[in-house]
Amino acid sequence: MVSLQFSRVAHDNRSSLAGFALTRHAAPRRSTPPARVGFQVRASNSQTDPDLSVSVNGFRMPNPFVIGSGPPGTNYTVMKRAFEEGWGAVIAKTVSLDAAKVINVTPRYARLRAGANGSAKGQIIGWENIELISDRPLEIMLKEFEQLKKEYPDRILIASIMEEYNKAAWEELIDRVEQTGIDAIEVNFSCPHGMPERKMGMAVGQDCAMLEEVCGWINAKATVPVWAKMTPNITDITAPARLALSTGCEGIAAINTIQSVMGISLDTLRPEPCVEGYSTPGGYSCKAVHPIALAKVMSIAQMMKSEFNLKDYSLSGIGGVETGGDAVEFILLGANTVQVCTGVMMHGYGLVKKLCAELKDFMEKHNFKTIEDFRGASLPYFTTHTELVRRQQEAIRQRKAVKKGLESDKDWTGDGFVKETESMVSN
Ligand SMILES: Cc1cc2nc3c(=O)[nH]c(=O)nc-3n(C[C@H](O)[C@H](O)[C@H](O)COP(=O)(O)O)c2cc1C
Repeated sequence: MVSLQFSRVAHDNRSSLAGFALTRHAAPRRSTPPARVGFQVRASNSQTDPDLSVSVNGFRMPNPFVIGSGPPGTNYTVMKRAFEEGWGAVIAKTVSLDAAKVINVTPRYARLRAGANGSAKGQIIGWENIELISDRPLEIMLKEFEQLKKEYPDRILIASIMEEYNKAAWEELIDRVEQTGIDAIEVNFSCPHGMPERKMGMAVGQDCAMLEEVCGWINAKATVPVWAKMTPNITDITAPARLALSTGCEGIAAINTIQSVMGISLDTLRPEPCVEGYSTPGGYSCKAVHPIALAKVMSIAQMMKSEFNLKDYSLSGIGGVETGGDAVEFILLGANTVQVCTGVMMHGYGLVKKLCAELKDFMEKHNFKTIEDFRGASLPYFTTHTELVRRQQEAIRQRKAVKKGLESDKDWTGDGFVKETESMVSN
């Protein structure tokens, strides 16, 4: 059972979260430099339990686990549930000014199971959705944000927003979500279906010129930290990420779903998810996207490390997280936080307890006391293929040199004499 590492306060009647509450830090206005350490490894020897808490863009979270934008953050009831279960932060389902333009269809999900096509028993490894952003009226979503911030002033609530290519619309949306007291904004530049038809979501994330302009509008207006959520459906994800940061965003979140066609029924010959006999390409998530997400986060982390002052920016890893180990991998690449969406749809809100327990086990095994002790520790071990070849040739040369023993009798030394003899014995 996990023991959450944040301060216990007198139980009050607002929350049944076992009396845990975060220390409220000063509102993370954009001028506040976040307390951060660069990517480095520090193993500590103290006997205390690992501390799972993280500081991100000026706000503190009890653990790095964040509800990713989607069904698990779609209304007051489920977001409240996420806070009660102990999630580090909640990112609400993406909102826009006019929900009347958002019309969903059902069925809107289709799953991929390991094993033969159609096998109902295999483990679920892939998930496609053709769900749009929130179809609930903005006024209602805003009231719910306000209510949640009233009930949980110490918890981190992030609004996810998306608008059309229109400066005034973005400004109005930012103004309205900020008035609810949310802690930060995540900008959805990445939904791969439906919204691009209106020049929204992935249409912006794939077009660097448009993204730069829209980020300029957003960052001139927003007073809370802004994360830009990237689409993996692009050749080089570092290009839009770099522009988002250089135009003022405080963080990058990656990845949103990967454009996909989940499959075709071999009985009906119709594609899935099948709506009145037809389908449309959707967004792929769940375990199968995890390696792709790791590659994208690795590239972004390398870019951030070499081009930006890390202490001012944050990175949120997303994609296929169902275990503490999956999350650790993102953190080892440099992520400050890890988002989970499909995992919650499959396993429920209690998943956060398992994630925290497994993260803690990992930290205990390596004697890491804080997340900063290992954040980014694996990043230096990525290099180019040319460099791998060079390293391997060097290693082979050294192994051969060891086997060959001394090249000349002049190389015998007194101290290494026995080892030098051994190096020339054949059995
Ligand atoms: C059903 C569904 C709806 C989603 N809706 C949104 C959304 O409204 N806004 C957004 O930014 N991402 C949305 N996402 C993407 C997720 O937040 C996440 O980036 C992606 O699914 C990969 O993470 P996962 O494997 O943990 O689900 C949605 C994902 C799913 C599965």
